[in-house]
Amino acid sequence: MKDWTGNHSSQFAALGSSNHTELERESNDFYATDPRALTALAEHMKLPHLIYECACGTGHLVKELTRLGHEVIATDLIDRGFGKGGVNFLEVESMPENCDCILTNPPYKFTTEFIEHALKILPKGGKAIFLLNVNILAGKSRFQRIYSRGVLKELYLFSSRIVCAKNGDFETYKSSAVNYAWFVFEKGFCGSTLLHWI
Ligand SMILES: C[S@@+](CC[C@H](N)C(=O)[O-])C[C@H]1O[C@@H](n2cnc3c(N)ncnc32)[C@H](O)[C@@H]1O
Repeated sequence: MKDWTGNHSSQFAALGSSNHTELERESNDFYATDPRALTALAEHMKLPHLIYECACGTGHLVKELTRLGHEVIATDLIDRGFGKGGVNFLEVESMPENCDCILTNPPYKFTTEFIEHALKILPKGGKAIFLLNVNILAGKSRFQRIYSRGVLKELYLFSSRIVCAKNGDFETYKSSAVNYAWFVFEKGFCGSTLLHWI
């Protein structure tokens, strides 16, 4: 699947007065992560060498992982010219060989499904490390489907807000009202969650 790469004016030129394309882009939930969010995590947590970024966007997290010396397998539902496009993570049947860690900022609307699916395909002891809005901690259904299993091992909460920029446009989106944290889920873990401020 190839995503739209034109600018704002070309979208309107192509679609007359409609902003439908803009809405479609949002429907794929492309909000790039400020790589400093990952730098901060890596200062507090030892990450495995081999990592699967299953919703890589244009590679903001992958490039930072690579800079930090990690090997990364990168896929996304949309072909954005980075990693392997056309891969629906929710249909991925197994982890890449020798890999026991998934790290991503998943599409907001499929957060619960991404967590459940990651825990399904990870080996025992494997980790799903997701950058999520802290509001995701609440909710009866999510509690029943995920948190009641005791799999949320650690939470790394940002003391200052970080930015996830729509369509990777960090020039326009310089600040954020969202509180994010890195959620570390471990398959097979059943215990209390450790909270760290970073
Ligand atoms: C919030 S963006 C994050 C991009 C990147 N991980 C980052 O942090 O910069 C979410 C990404 O999930 C992708 N996505 C949406 N649904 C997906 C699916 N079912 N399988 C894989 N990727 C998906 C979108 O195309 C988008 O690139």
